[in-house]
Amino acid sequence: MERIPILILNGPNLNLLGHREPERYGNISMEEYLIFLKNEFQFFEIDYFQSNNESEIVDKIQAAKKVYNAIVINPAAYTHSSIAIRDSLLATQILTIEVHLTDISQRETFRHHSMISDLCWCTIKGFGLESYKIALSRLQEYFNMNVEI
Ligand code: DQA
Repeated sequence: MERIPILILNGPNLNLLGHREPERYGNISMEEYLIFLKNEFQFFEIDYFQSNNESEIVDKIQAAKKVYNAIVINPAAYTHSSIAIRDSLLATQILTIEVHLTDISQRETFRHHSMISDLCWCTIKGFGLESYKIALSRLQEYFNMNVEI
């Protein structure tokens, strides 16, 4: 079976997962969790990219159209501020799921607004690292449905 290429894209400070505010974000690193995700979702060819730099994230989204069938993105703090990331998703028109470890609607008011939610197929938030697993399950259902149609 040919695997479907997807990109998991993480924004600033998510390179510190496992160490950063562990009471909030948990004590498992993204690299460790990726091993689990890749094993669990052999249906997908999963690439992972993390950057603390807005322009690198924009470049990666622009380049994604030719390479991936979908993006799972956690823009981290840029969620709440980045018109550039929003515009790159608009320009790229690629199937996108927004993911957050925490429930941003239950945190400080400046985190309530997402610049990208309305462009995304869905948003999964508040389940810790499991948010990524839920996002991939939803994507798998989506592609299976499309295959059957
Ligand atoms: C986050 C929520 C953001 O508000 C925050 O800036 C992050 C992580 C999350 O996954 O819960 O860095 O995107």
